[in-house]
Amino acid sequence: MSTFSAYLEKLFGLSGETAVIIGGAGELGGVLGAGIGQAGAHIIVADMSEPACKSRVEKLNNIGISAEYLTVDITNRDSIKSLLDKSTKKTGKVDMLVNCAGINVGTPFLEVDPATWDKIFAVNLKGMMESCQIFIESMLKNENGGSILNIGSVNSDRPLSRVFAYAASKAGVISLTQNIAQEFACQKIRCNAICPGFFPAEQNRKILSDERVAKIMEGTPMRRYGSPDELVGAALLLLSQRAGSYITGSAVYVDGGFTCSWF
Ligand SMILES: NC(=O)c1ccc[n+]([C@@H]2O[C@H](COP(=O)([O-])OP(=O)(O)OC[C@H]3O[C@@H](n4cnc5c(N)ncnc54)[C@H](O)[C@@H]3O)[C@@H](O)[C@H]2O)c1
Repeated sequence: MSTFSAYLEKLFGLSGETAVIIGGAGELGGVLGAGIGQAGAHIIVADMSEPACKSRVEKLNNIGISAEYLTVDITNRDSIKSLLDKSTKKTGKVDMLVNCAGINVGTPFLEVDPATWDKIFAVNLKGMMESCQIFIESMLKNENGGSILNIGSVNSDRPLSRVFAYAASKAGVISLTQNIAQEFACQKIRCNAICPGFFPAEQNRKILSDERVAKIMEGTPMRRYGSPDELVGAALLLLSQRAGSYITGSAVYVDGGFTCSWF
């Protein structure tokens, strides 16, 4: 190994570690799993649907990544507990948790349905809080603690029109991340967030009207969508207990400049 490769391995290598990725069968979760797996971690794809999990694991295995899956519903506490129990039975410990499950529905404010609001919050924020709680209890027993990566959004910084519950839940992701970070900072548990800009995927394609796309491009200084693999560098930095050792409570915006642009 060249000196440079050895140096990178020391900073970012995740060999011997296990990452549970909730929402890992989805588009961004799948690419994050591939990136974290390429860095050497064993990946547990955790998601709702067994066929989607299976197909994601197959894709990861095909590129040489050690991966398996467990189904989970992040809105059900027992289901998250069972995910942790089964994960630790399989691998001994979980070092990293990536909270990537998310749902979205767009409507004008007067049409916001309280039941839909609750459903979005149950996945995007309450489920995230419960998975952090359940996995942190286990990570506290690890010699090297653990690292959590929560997926926010540019909505964490400013609310995009018509996605009321989504935007409010993603703003909450930052508060949750910072509060967990401060509480566990001296116990080797770090908690950070990545806030992606616009990465067209199943979840948001349906709300990307022509008018909205034009506005997004106008508001994005790089004038293009993100490609999911552009999230991987930030994820590895934040997850690695060496490269990211002094980073906790941070939110890294990977958004082509969307949140820094005021015009
Ligand atoms: N795609 C984007 O442009 C974008 C931008 C900003 C933030 N995000 C966030 O990134 C994350 C991933 O989004 P994506 O674009 O990959 O969407 P996606 O729909 O492809 O992935 C989301 C995954 O979450 C899973 N999920 C939903 N409800 C669940 C539940 N109750 N329990 C367990 N898993 C559940 C889904 O099955 C799906 O696989 C989400 O939190 C989303 O809000 C996406």
